[in-house]
Order: sequence, then structure tokens, then C-alpha cells
Amino acid sequence: MAPPSAIEVLPEPDTSTFTIPDRLTVRHIAKRRAASGKLIAGVAAAADVGAFKGRTHHVHKPLAKRWDHRLTDEAKTRGGSSLKEAAKFLKQPGLISLGGGLPSSEYFPVEEMSFKVPILNSATGERHAVLTAGKHDMAHGTSDYDLATALQYGQGHGSAQLLRFLVEHTELVHNPPYSDWSCTMTVGSTSAFDMAIRMFAKPGDWILSEEYTFPAMVETAAPMGVRVAAVRMDEGGMLADSLDEVLRTWDEQARGGKKPVLLYTVPTGQNPTGSTQSLQRRKEIYAVAQKHDLYILEDEPYYFLQMQPYTGPNAPDIPPPASHEEFLLSLVPSYLSLDVDGRVMRMDSFSKVIAPGTRVGWITASEQICKRYGVHADLSTQSPSGFSQMMLFKILEEQWGHGGFLDWLLHIRMEYTARRNVILDACEQFLPKEVVSWKAPKAGMFQWMRVEWEKHPDYSSKTLLEIEDELFHANMRHGTLLMKGSWFCPDKEADTGKMFFRATYAAAPLDQIREAVRRFGESLREAFGLVGLADGDSKALRAVIIIVEDNTCTKHLLHPFPTPHSCTPPIHHGHPEIPQPSSRQSTQPNRQRLLGLDRARDTGSGQNHTREESELDAVGGARLHAVGAQGVDEADAAAGY
Ligand SMILES: Cc1ncc(COP(=O)(O)O)c(C=O)c1O
Repeated sequence: MAPPSAIEVLPEPDTSTFTIPDRLTVRHIAKRRAASGKLIAGVAAAADVGAFKGRTHHVHKPLAKRWDHRLTDEAKTRGGSSLKEAAKFLKQPGLISLGGGLPSSEYFPVEEMSFKVPILNSATGERHAVLTAGKHDMAHGTSDYDLATALQYGQGHGSAQLLRFLVEHTELVHNPPYSDWSCTMTVGSTSAFDMAIRMFAKPGDWILSEEYTFPAMVETAAPMGVRVAAVRMDEGGMLADSLDEVLRTWDEQARGGKKPVLLYTVPTGQNPTGSTQSLQRRKEIYAVAQKHDLYILEDEPYYFLQMQPYTGPNAPDIPPPASHEEFLLSLVPSYLSLDVDGRVMRMDSFSKVIAPGTRVGWITASEQICKRYGVHADLSTQSPSGFSQMMLFKILEEQWGHGGFLDWLLHIRMEYTARRNVILDACEQFLPKEVVSWKAPKAGMFQWMRVEWEKHPDYSSKTLLEIEDELFHANMRHGTLLMKGSWFCPDKEADTGKMFFRATYAAAPLDQIREAVRRFGESLREAFGLVGLADGDSKALRAVIIIVEDNTCTKHLLHPFPTPHSCTPPIHHGHPEIPQPSSRQSTQPNRQRLLGLDRARDTGSGQNHTREESELDAVGGARLHAVGAQGVDEADAAAGY
């Protein structure tokens, strides 16, 4: 079996073939705002999204399709909150309201809130700014938004102040190609998805998704009696042909449900596979959606985690995009930007680019769908938390502005690029390519690794799930937690026949990412009975260090041994100048005394391994590229220390 081609070095080629037409620029936003005058939006103000979009900017575009034939009865019969409707009268000058059950802001026990945020590209050299929101800043004329408003009840679509920023940002990045698009805030995509299913699917229905997908989506749908049909994927994400085939050959009898009309997809940095659909792939899938009149839920928390191309270990980094324009051009166009019919609900989230605890995101869809969503929100989430909205408003609107937000997103892109490169370099260095393969993710935070379980010694006697479980626990014993691929299968009956593990490079310190991958490599070698040759191979290190302790001449450490790179049982290649241990007993005390290896395995601590490596470097001054199992007998190997 040829080793996999693990690295793709080419940059995403197809973003340049499509330019978002008439894309708004940061400068134009300022002009538009100046023309539309100061935003005055008091307590529970309804947002005028049409004004945020610029009254004339989209009139030349077609209207979105209507989706009455796809909406569930639940969605169609939601009339909204009559009490919230009354809020629109609040803006009448001189009105004394004895209407709404709104507590007085006098009793909000928060007079002021302050927080410190980073400043990027500061002209003055300042690295942080302290932002402060007061209770009555609007009355004092010091801000368009204050705590008295933010902490009061609001509209389901969120505050007009923050929503304006989000509408403009959406236009800046995607410029939807139909006229009546709109945005509504959410309390994150998990909630948006829950509400969207209720809008488009009823008990007994099926929806479609990638064959590996975000489990929360499946777990949300299942209790509603909604099942998920798997569409096959390759390294570029969902396959349009497979989507078409599933729909063309849909057998209502066999499936016990109607042909699906809702497609859920994570096109960029997909969870769990890390795959990113190319522009061509998106166009093909959109065409299939048009053919079968599907409605698309585009779940894009990782959109701005599109990274610089991976160029391989030790290759020079590719410099970041030089301008905002270049940055936006480097992003694969979204479904929203291709959506001439208004058949996409795009879900954006601050979770991966600001913080998950903000619990703020937004959807973009046709006015009809946003209105349905908004009336549902009025009676469920009400709106995102006022504290979160205020914090985001202060950062985005008052501190960073649109340009500053793009700078932040670019900063995040470069941070993730560095992390992704570390895990890829570690995979190259430590994983046994005979049994594991991977691709360089172009976006997101996940590294998806295929394990060729067909080469496992127990392949003929155990199932995929059994071997996967064993490997999962073996990884744990080695001190690395990786997610099982099978946890991400939406349709447990659709057997992919393949085994994967998911790693994330999002959070662990870089040295620990390397160490975790090294341990995974060690765990695989052990499980597959491989005599490893890669750097960091535990058996190699152990063998070498025992020899050192035995006080033999160190020059032998640099002698390469033959390379048994296969699944066949390890072969001992005796070296004439190195004394051979006669038995397990003879080497065991030395091993334990010198390395404390068994303890390291039990506690999951990596410290001993690090020491091993440094001892090796000190002794040999070079990495070993071949290992004879000197000093390690087969019993030791089988014991898996
Ligand atoms: C694909 C996908 N969608 C949505 C979410 C959750 O988003 P939110 O925090 O906005 O609810 C996640 C989080 O891991 C995710 O991977």
C-alpha cells in the first residue's frame, strides 16, 4: 500500500474565479451611514434592516422565492408576541407608557461595565483599550447604546445597534444576490439550528447532511422525530453526485419517510472532517438543491478560520493577505453569496472568532424566513443577552469598526494557520503512514485522520467499532484524547466502512499538540504491531537509553538498523557490537529505574518522554531513523509499555 500523499501544497485555486459582485467596501459603509443619519433606537426598538442595507443598493436584484410550501404548520401559525408588537409605539414622541411589563432601569443594579480588549495595528503603540458602557449613555449623548437599553427586554432580532453592524458586515463579505435578504440575531447556531428544524421539518421527516457531521445537529433533530440521511463526502466535503443520487433514488417505503427537502451543511472547515467545499463544489451542490427544490442550512462557524495554504514541514510561511480586499478575496465564496433564489439560511456565530460564551450569532435569509425566525425568537430566546450585545457593540462598533473586525479575523486566521502547521508537521514526523493518513485542512480547527483498520491484527475477528473502541482506549492509555469518527455518523445504519479519529489543534499549547500526536503514533504502532522508525518512537528511545545505561559505546547509537516498516511481527536485528539482553527480566529493572516508563503510561504524563528525547539528543546528537529492537524483547512490545 503506497503511503498517502499527506500534504496538499496548493492554495485554494478557485476563489479568484468568482468575485462577489458590487461588494460593499468599508469606506462605502461610512458614506451610507452618513447619508442615513444618526441611528436612534431606544428600548425594544424594531430594527429597520432595509435602511441598514441602503435603500437603493439592492433594488436591481430579484426577489427571493417564497417558502410557504416548505414551512411547517408550527412555523406558519406562529403569530408572534402581541406585547412585543406594541413596542413599536414606544417611539411616539411624548408618549407615557403604562403598557409593557418592563422593569425600570432604575432597578438594574449595574451602573457601568468596563472591559479591556486588544487593539490591533495601533498607530499609538497602545496594545489594549478599556471600553466602558454606562447606564444612560444615550441620554448623555455619549453613545448610541447604553445599559438601560441593552439590559431591558428587546426584540427577537436583537438590538438595532448591533444588528446594523452585522447586516453591514454580511453585505461586506457576502453581498447576497437577491434583494430582500435580511439578518436576525440568534443566541448561537445551536439554537438557530433547533429553531430552523422546527421551521422546516416535522416528526417523521428526513433531512440531509454530510456522512460525518456535527453531532449536536443530529441530537437536536432526533427527539423531534427527524432523522438524518447521510450524503457521501470526499476530502473536499459533501459530494454533489451523492446528494443527487440520494434524492433521485429515495425510497419512501424503505426509508419510512418522504424525500428530504432540507439540506444541512458545514461547507468550510467542516466539523469533524475539516474539509472545505471549493467554489465549484458549492455551485454543483446548489444546482442539485435547485433541481430538487431543497432549502439549505449553511452552518458556518468556521468560515473565518480559512487559513493560509500549508506548504509542508520547514517550508517558508505564506505571508498574510496584504489588505482587507485581498483577505475577502481569499475566502471561498459562501452559499449565501451564490444564492440567487433565497434558498439559503446562513448561520454565523461569534463562538469561534470572539468567544463561545457570548452566545450571539446571526442568520441571514430572505425577509420571509427572518420574519418567521424573529417571531419564534420573540417567544423563546427573546433576544441574545444584553450584556453580550453591549460587549460586542462596544468592541465591534465603537472600538474596532468594520476594518478593525477584519483585522481581528485576519489575526485569528494567522493564529490558526500556525497551529494547523504544528499539528501537520507533528503528523508527518510521528505517525506511521502505513496505517494512518490525513489531509491538510484548509479551514477550521479539526484534523481528521483515517486509520486503515483493515491492517489491524484483529481485522478478521473484530468489527470496526470494536477496533475503534480499542484504539480509543489505547490512545487514552498513552495520554491522548482523540474523538472517534463513528461518533459523528448521523445515520448509524449507513456504514462507511472507514475508521477515523478527530483531533483539534484549537486550544492545546503547541508543544502539547506535538506530544499528543507523538503519543498517538506510539499507540498506533503498538496496536498494529509495527516496529516504528519515526522520530519519537518509544521503543527506539527505550532501546537506545538502555544501551547507554549498560555503558556500551555510544557510537553504536548512530548505526542505522534495517527497517521493518510493515505489519509483520517485529524482527530483532542483532548488532554484532551491541550486547543482547538475554531475557525480559534482565532489562526490566534498568528500564524502570531509568525511565519510569510504566508510571508514565499510567499517569499519562509526557514528562518522561520529553526527558527521553533530550537524553537521546544529548547522546546521539542526531535523530535516529532506524530502530533495531535491541534491548526490547517481544514480550515487552506486546505488553505495550
Ligand atoms: C458545525 C458547528 N455548528 C455549530 C456549532 C456551535 O455554534 P454555537 O456556539 O454558535 O452554538 C459548532 C460548535 O462546535 C459547530 O462545530
